[in-house]
Amino acid sequence: MKINKQHYRTIWPDPENNETVMIIDQRKLPHKFVIETLSTLDDAVAAIKDMHVRGAGLIGATAGFGMHLAAVNAKEGHLAETLKQAAQLLDRSRPTARNLKWAVDRVLQAVNKGKTEEDKKILTFDTACEITDEDAEFCRTLGVHGLDIITDLSKAKQGKTINILTHCNAGWLAFVDYGSATAPIYAARDAGIDIHVWVDETRPWNQGAKLTAWELQQENIPCTLITDNAGGHLMQQGMVDMVIVGTDRTTHTGDVANKIGTYLKALAAHDNDIPFYVALPSSTFDWEIDNGNDIPIEERSGDEITAISGINKNGNIETIQLTAPGTRALNYSFDITPARLVTGLITERGVITAEKEAIHNLFPEHP
Ligand code: MRU
Repeated sequence: MKINKQHYRTIWPDPENNETVMIIDQRKLPHKFVIETLSTLDDAVAAIKDMHVRGAGLIGATAGFGMHLAAVNAKEGHLAETLKQAAQLLDRSRPTARNLKWAVDRVLQAVNKGKTEEDKKILTFDTACEITDEDAEFCRTLGVHGLDIITDLSKAKQGKTINILTHCNAGWLAFVDYGSATAPIYAARDAGIDIHVWVDETRPWNQGAKLTAWELQQENIPCTLITDNAGGHLMQQGMVDMVIVGTDRTTHTGDVANKIGTYLKALAAHDNDIPFYVALPSSTFDWEIDNGNDIPIEERSGDEITAISGINKNGNIETIQLTAPGTRALNYSFDITPARLVTGLITERGVITAEKEAIHNLFPEHP
């Protein structure tokens, strides 16, 4: 993804020192582009918990590097115990994103192959890099599969603009590169298809308004910001051809956890016969949970709803109070869209229905 014409990933090891990791502090976007250095496990945990980084794939990549940072700072003779504690801390940092546990487990498995502590430390770094590269590659590939769907829609509309609605940010910033929901959009743009994106603002963090709209603008994709409540109306007016969203965790039976409000979009799409797709790398599948309602849903502080932040006239990022003091607010971060409302899952291996059989057929290594 390009920022001011320069290519960036959302996370990368410091090229001069493998013992630190660089991220973009997403809390400051789109107003300020600030690169932050993570040097310790605590830095990585705080970055995930406090939303310097967010989005399923990037949370996973940061967790992978968090394990590496724990390893490089471990006292001699205490590596195994340090990694076990790091895994617990990271696992608890955000409960819904599946990629987090997936990445932590992958590093834990990888270190078993090392004989000495030095070997194991190298393995934590190599595995974090592998997770990162794989995330980018899987998103790029799922974009190619998603392109087929957009191409068919474009043909059916005889080349007229395809209007795609998306919720939250399942873009480049939520992964290492390309994004999940945005990868087919970038592929369609590259294929010369006329596209336009409706971007839900996504209260309370406004990831759509602050991140997705900015990201698409950087890539010259035509897009329009809408309020979270506008989607249903646009669908009724024939202004939406398809919905593509990301997911923080999808069960192997096809139920989808994604940013709060996704379920309402799926209901409206269903009522208006509009295809509703979910784009995900396979690292987001939960192979154990059968029913989406058993996915842990993160509940964040109500303060995120009662206050709002933006840039003031002096160019400083400021948070202001929105509500009367003492207003109670309930802040669930995610909701569950049942498989029956999902038209298809766009994965790095192809597009499938949101059904157990189809998912297991495409990923037979998960019995
Ligand atoms: O709370 P966030 O910003 O970490 O939530 C993640 C999201 O941005 C969305 O739920 C997204 O659609 C899925 S993450 C690929």
